[in-house]
Amino acid sequence: MIEKTETTPTIKELVALSGLRHIAFIMDGNGRWATAKHLSREAGHKAGADVFKKIVRYCKSIGIECCTVYAFSTENWNRPKPEVEAIMGLLEKYAVEADAEKDISFHFIGDKTPLSSSMREKLEKLERTTADRPYILNIALNYGGRAEIVNAVNKILADGKTEVTEADISAALYTGHCPDPDLVVRTGKELRISNFLLWQSAYTEYYFSEKMWPEMTADDIDEAVRSFAGRKRRWGGLDKA
Ligand code: IPE
Ligand code: IPE
Ligand code: MG
Repeated sequence: MIEKTETTPTIKELVALSGLRHIAFIMDGNGRWATAKHLSREAGHKAGADVFKKIVRYCKSIGIECCTVYAFSTENWNRPKPEVEAIMGLLEKYAVEADAEKDISFHFIGDKTPLSSSMREKLEKLERTTADRPYILNIALNYGGRAEIVNAVNKILADGKTEVTEADISAALYTGHCPDPDLVVRTGKELRISNFLLWQSAYTEYYFSEKMWPEMTADDIDEAVRSFAGRKRRWGGLDKA
């Protein structure tokens, strides 16, 4: 008689089995987390930046090939100047340290032109020096999904095309170097996409967490992976019998 044994797959196995290659994060809730602790919003962003580093390392360790994080939107310029400066300061500092993150290739997606020239140089240097590494980290900075599509169409027009295909647009987006996200995780209790990866997320799965971003842990990522692995993606078709 053959004995039936059941083993629970590990998270790494679930990532591989479910075809989860690209996770994107809307890292929301830094401000509310800080306010609840009687801290400044800037302190919330600092805590959020520390958690972001841990989450990215964890995703790599479980076999995720590509992560995208929403760090600053085209609409976030509407915030008070000290808060904007604090976020930019954290990102500029990170751009200098990040070279030490093993095996990660950095891509800043978004419009870099309004950034200071010293910041732009740091971001571009990091992109250049890490270009050949295997894991992709896209940091969405001054990013907006609509602006990205407009930028892509203008690029295509500048190349002299008078008709565009879906493939042309996908290739001209800031994310032309990676697959579409399989899963978008948003923290901070809001149930919206806030102009994030509009084109790329046509068939993406969503996972919304009640936690504020600075509270996110590896266990929460495991939970999101389990949720993803339990879903059936149909892309408009029918389940395979
Ligand atoms: C996300 O946290 C980080 C950025 C948008 C830069 P928030 O700063 O939006 O935090 P809440 O939503 O106000 O709590
Ligand atoms: C989305 O969060 C942008 C980032 C996480 C960088 P927001 O806090 O800006 O989104 P809304 O304003 O609540 O939609
Ligand atoms: Mg927010």
